[in-house]
Amino acid sequence: MKKITIIGAGRVGESTAQILANEEHAHEVVLLDIREGVARGTALDIQESATLFGFDSRVTGDEDNSAMEGSDIVIITAGLPRKPGMSRSDVLDANLGIIRGLTEDIMRYAPQAKVIMVTNPVDILTYSVWKQTGWDRSRVFGLSGVLDAARMASFIALETGFSIKDITTMVLGGHGDSMVPMSRFTTINGIPLDTFLSEEKIHEIVDRTRNGGAEILALKKTSSANDSPAAAVATMVDAVCNNRKRILPCVAILDGEYQHHDLAIGVPVILGNQGMEEVIELQLNETENRQFQESVEQVKKDLTAIS
Ligand code: 2OP
Repeated sequence: MKKITIIGAGRVGESTAQILANEEHAHEVVLLDIREGVARGTALDIQESATLFGFDSRVTGDEDNSAMEGSDIVIITAGLPRKPGMSRSDVLDANLGIIRGLTEDIMRYAPQAKVIMVTNPVDILTYSVWKQTGWDRSRVFGLSGVLDAARMASFIALETGFSIKDITTMVLGGHGDSMVPMSRFTTINGIPLDTFLSEEKIHEIVDRTRNGGAEILALKKTSSANDSPAAAVATMVDAVCNNRKRILPCVAILDGEYQHHDLAIGVPVILGNQGMEEVIELQLNETENRQFQESVEQVKKDLTAIS
């Protein structure tokens, strides 16, 4: 991959740029931010770590969005983060205007790019970018379940003491309080989770996963998570740049899958060099389907706010 742009040089943007540079996913990593000097200073700081991490990526920053010219991937982290006690939907009005302006610039300067949405509410803003660009749904997808599933795996590793390497988790639905951590699709080296944990403990982990972002925000108080979101974004970028055909839960536009059209929500997808290449339909049981549909209704409620 030649060029990846990250819009927003806040904590998530900075952590993402550092990982992408370290892992050399693109020869050029560009950080953009409207705040004078912030992107340039952050990029220079990361660039100066090159010899220590051994990367040849070139990391640059700018205030001018034309610097994204020709990007293969554009990652959007810009916008207002929520404050303690706020839901991700509470920043929709503020962030929608920002994202619509950025989308115009992406269409102008990086018309071939794939867009990975990170800014919250990510389901709604992924939909907004897809609608505004009119691009194929393979090119516009968002960060949700990769992060939530990573949190769930961490909680399981902490509880069981087993290696994180053997823990596979799945989270569906909107990236919010209505998300659906799927314990039935969670295994430890292929062994069902309920072999090791009681139903009560599994429910505790499901609830903690659902509250994962808010838990960190309550502790940090002035900022939300950045390291785990950045690692999740880098995982998605790696799957696209290296055509890995990974099955990962991401915000995707549904086109009939799960009996829904014209909706963006977290589902398992195949990520490869074409971007979001396919939505995978799980056979949900009655409880899972009810929870997923409830999450769909929550996302649809927010979607009416932008229509
Ligand atoms: C989170 O869950 C920021 O939505 C992101 O931490």
